[in-house]
Amino acid sequence: MNPFAPTKNLAIDLGNNNTLLCDQSSLLLSQPSFMVVNELNNRIEAVGDQAYEMLEKTHSNLKPIKPLKGGVISDGESAKKMLKELVGKVRKPSLFPSGFNYLLSGVPYDTTPVEKRALRDALDQFSSRYTHLVHEPLAAALGLGLNIQEPEGKMVVDIGGGITEVVVISLSGIAAFQSIRVAGDALDEEIQDYFRREYNLSIGLKSAEKVKKEIGCIYSPIADKKMVAIVKGKDLMEGIPASRTITQTELTKVLEKPFRQIEECIHQSLEICPPELAADIYQSGIHVTGGNALLKGIKERFAQTFQIQVHIDPLPLLAVSKGIGQVLTAPQKFKAVLL
Ligand SMILES: Nc1ncnc2c1ncn2[C@@H]1O[C@H](COP(=O)(O)OP(=O)(O)OP(=O)(O)O)[C@@H](O)[C@H]1O
Ligand SMILES: [Mg+2]
Repeated sequence: MNPFAPTKNLAIDLGNNNTLLCDQSSLLLSQPSFMVVNELNNRIEAVGDQAYEMLEKTHSNLKPIKPLKGGVISDGESAKKMLKELVGKVRKPSLFPSGFNYLLSGVPYDTTPVEKRALRDALDQFSSRYTHLVHEPLAAALGLGLNIQEPEGKMVVDIGGGITEVVVISLSGIAAFQSIRVAGDALDEEIQDYFRREYNLSIGLKSAEKVKKEIGCIYSPIADKKMVAIVKGKDLMEGIPASRTITQTELTKVLEKPFRQIEECIHQSLEICPPELAADIYQSGIHVTGGNALLKGIKERFAQTFQIQVHIDPLPLLAVSKGIGQVLTAPQKFKAVLL
């Protein structure tokens, strides 16, 4: 068999902000979970990177769509179309007339049956031989290289775009769990609100996210007041374009409220964790992943709050997809994590 030929298996991390596709050996695509539709003819104008570029810059006939909210599908039809387009970029349907063999997709642990159904509907369009869901926190743990099969508690915190999930894993299952639909988007919205409230400056969510990525910090002792970012938007009083400078110290204060909610969620999961597993976590520490694990000061802050070791994933945007890709290498071996 040609080792470079595309395989018939596919793993999907359909995230609130980013969709990643991979097979058992490599990452095939990573693009924002967005789409732009032309309302005049209902045609899809752009998906992924291209759609994100157009976001907040469209005219009245072009409708930007984000099919996921809070980490789960909120607009089933759009999610289905977006996924079809993104998968089509890496796997031409003509190459797989009889569909995929294994199709695996991540799903948050905290999902209602209706939300799961929406995901299954979106996946069913690929008529694969086997379609399975994998709980994202378990996939993340695999992606982090943790041995999830042993009888030893491991805590994984995934701070994505729409949802923060905190799990304690042992024996390939989830022994304790907490989640909150407060994650990256909530931090961006807080920044947007702050500029409106404090400076009468209306800024887009993309600008808010940009400043968070540039200088966002969540531990005040290391925030640098000389580190600044310029944010552009519209002055709400004058109605004209305007810009404002924000320091890292100021931004740290802005992020405090939503971040405290995330921290509270971790606290609760430690509280409900059975004692033997808590003892394991005390030894092994907390593993943090998801895009917002890149925020400056996260390690120091969690170490200070929880007084245990904190491991930050160096590639937190990839953990879930790496984990599902690993399951694809031997689905039989990982039967326990397949839904
Ligand atoms: N350098 C960075 N600093 C801070 N935050 C970042 C950085 N890079 C990405 N992010 C944030 O990470 C989030 C996206 O992460 P990720 O791809 O893990 O989420 P997702 O999987 O799409 O969402 P979910 O897991 O909720 O479905 C966004 O909120 C984004 O702003
Ligand atoms: Mg995710």
